Amino acid sequence: MNEFIRKPRGTKDILPDEQKYWRAIEKAVEKRCLAFDFGKITTPSFESVQLFDRAIGQTTDIVQKEMFEVKRYGTSEEKREEETLVLRPEGTAGVVRVYLEKGMQVWPQPVKLYYIEPMFRYGRPQKGRYREFWQFGFEIIGDKSSQTDIATLMLIWQIFNDLGLNEKDIIIDINSIGCKICRPQINKSLSDYLIKYQKLLCPVCQERLNLNPLRILDCKEKKCQNIIAGAPQIIDYLCESCKSDFKQVLEGLDELAIPYDLNPRLVRGLDYYTKTTFEIRDLQDKTRQSSLGGGGRYDNLIETYGGPSTPAIGFAAGIERIISKIKEKKIKIPEIQKTEIFVIQLGEKAKKIALKLVYDLGNKGFASSCAMGKNSLKSQLRSADKNGAKLALIIGQREALDKSIIIKDLRDSTQESYSMNKLDEMIYKKLRQK
Ligand code: HAM
Repeated sequence: MNEFIRKPRGTKDILPDEQKYWRAIEKAVEKRCLAFDFGKITTPSFESVQLFDRAIGQTTDIVQKEMFEVKRYGTSEEKREEETLVLRPEGTAGVVRVYLEKGMQVWPQPVKLYYIEPMFRYGRPQKGRYREFWQFGFEIIGDKSSQTDIATLMLIWQIFNDLGLNEKDIIIDINSIGCKICRPQINKSLSDYLIKYQKLLCPVCQERLNLNPLRILDCKEKKCQNIIAGAPQIIDYLCESCKSDFKQVLEGLDELAIPYDLNPRLVRGLDYYTKTTFEIRDLQDKTRQSSLGGGGRYDNLIETYGGPSTPAIGFAAGIERIISKIKEKKIKIPEIQKTEIFVIQLGEKAKKIALKLVYDLGNKGFASSCAMGKNSLKSQLRSADKNGAKLALIIGQREALDKSIIIKDLRDSTQESYSMNKLDEMIYKKLRQK
């Protein structure tokens, strides 16, 4: 047997039957983001490695071991580009780069951008974890008010609700992880506690203890989890301003009746976050290892890149994970309306007329199609039905000779024969008149 070339590990083919889910998500995101005056942005799939090194953090899994390096095929080591390029593992860093590169600081603030793009992480593939996966996400750059945090969460909630996922299925896990002022104190309180258990922590956390103790709270290792359970709570070490802002965010969510779970251990896997951080979680997912989406404030990131101090907040969701949830919950997603009119032809003469008819109907704005081969009436009717057509136009030997046509209304199965020159009038009547 032939050995076919297979798709790379951790990737996914999206076949025609699946497309309706992707389209529904794209439509929901677009509808809500455009209404909220977001502009769409598309950035390159690969960027300079420094962009992610600085943003995501040297001690994160992504930077340490999950980035795909882009090399020019077949070039010798010496001739390689100077700059190391990697496939983007996430979207925020690229958007921030564009904000600075295009001088968006002088645009009316905040700048609101959204994206729907594939991301790449060289992790160990497992359920809901791919090496290439799609995210929709958005970033609001240039506003520090808690109102923006609330608006962000509201937008996320509405998009998920539009897709049929609501308070029965999902919840927002939320926390505040402090700002430049209180973070040193938070880190110190955690280090003081964790240092006592240093030898019992997993090797990765032992390393993190000096570099970034906050990230230890995110460790999934059982032995670290037991130690983390007794760690000081971040919230107790927030400065007054962070505390007051976080209180306002929670009050805003209460007012909108958006459900949330205050999770004092939530820290997220990327280093750029400050203050409000959150994840969207399936209520059934007690392990908290497969979030549907996540985001938060990143008020220091633009400065990290050498820009002016600029507050920002954003969010991204994993599209494959949302689709799998939609299917699991058996949420009905409308089929894509492909064909309005399906032309059925029987015999050689009819076949010639059929293609011309499809061409003319298409030019008049009707989504039309016909069978390509020599199929029976029954199988052509089946195709019409499968394509979601409302009308079938049947041209047999007789119709081809006497210039008539049968219009079969597939919605109520009625059919009648008309002279060809009455066709347009009848079609407009059946499809365009209310
Ligand atoms: P993240 O939490 O790394 O955040 O990813 C966001 C979402 O992408 C996750 O919640 C998950 O649904 C999905 N995801 C992540 N990795 C995978 C994977 N290997 N396979 C399938 N789905 C995955 C970010 O990327 C931030 N840039 C979000 C953000 C935007 N923060 C501020 N602005």
